[in-house]
Amino acid sequence: MKKRIKNNKSFFIFHLKDEITNKIRKKFNYLKDDKFLKNKKWNFRKRSFAKGEVSNSKILWSKDNSFFQSKKNNKYIGGIKRKFYPMSLVIKKSIEKIIINFINRDLISKKNVYLGAHAIRIVCNKNNLGYPVPEGFHHDGFDNVAIISVNKSSVSGGKSFLKNAKKKRIELSKTLRINEVLFFDDKKFMHYASPIKLTKNKLGFRDIIVLTFHKKVYR
Ligand SMILES: [Fe+2]
Repeated sequence: MKKRIKNNKSFFIFHLKDEITNKIRKKFNYLKDDKFLKNKKWNFRKRSFAKGEVSNSKILWSKDNSFFQSKKNNKYIGGIKRKFYPMSLVIKKSIEKIIINFINRDLISKKNVYLGAHAIRIVCNKNNLGYPVPEGFHHDGFDNVAIISVNKSSVSGGKSFLKNAKKKRIELSKTLRINEVLFFDDKKFMHYASPIKLTKNKLGFRDIIVLTFHKKVYR
C-alpha cells in the first residue's frame, strides 16, 4: 500500500453510509459456529471467511478459504491452518463497496493488496458472556486491519481498544456504533475488545466485519 498512513495518523474512525444494508445484517443470522473454539460447552462465536486481492479497485476473490495465524500472533489458536465456512455472496458484495470507500479515502491502494475478510457474530446469554477476542490483546499479523460494526442487540460491553505495542499504552478505547469503522496500523497497535454481556431478552449478539490488508510483495 503506497499510502499506508495518511497525515501520520495510525488509526481512523469514520461512518459508512449505505455499504451495509439490512439484507446484509440479516445474513449474519445464518453464520455457522466457529468449530475452532476451545470452549465446547458454550460456543460464543459464529463466522464466515473469504480472501482475495484488490486489483484495479476490484476484489478478485480466491477459491481457497484457509486461514493461518502464527502462534506468536494468536496464542489461543495460532499455529494451525483453519478452514472457515465460506462467506455469502451478499456479504462479499457489501465488502466490495467498503473497499471502494477505503480506496477513496486513501487508506489502501487500489491494487496489489491482499485482503482477508471475516464476518463474525459473538453471542451471549443469561449465563454466559461472549468473548470477541479470547486471546486478549494481539496483532493480526498484517499491515492494516479494519473493524466494522455491523449490528448489535441486547448487549453491553464489546468495547474496542488499541494499545501502542512499543509504548505499551492504550491509545483508544471506544464502543463502535453500528456502521462505524475502526481502521488501524496492525504493526503499531495491538487490538482487543471486551466481552459482551446480555442486557435484555434471551440472546444478545454483536456482529462485525474484520478486514485485513497486506501489501503484495514482489520478489
Ligand atoms: Fe484480531
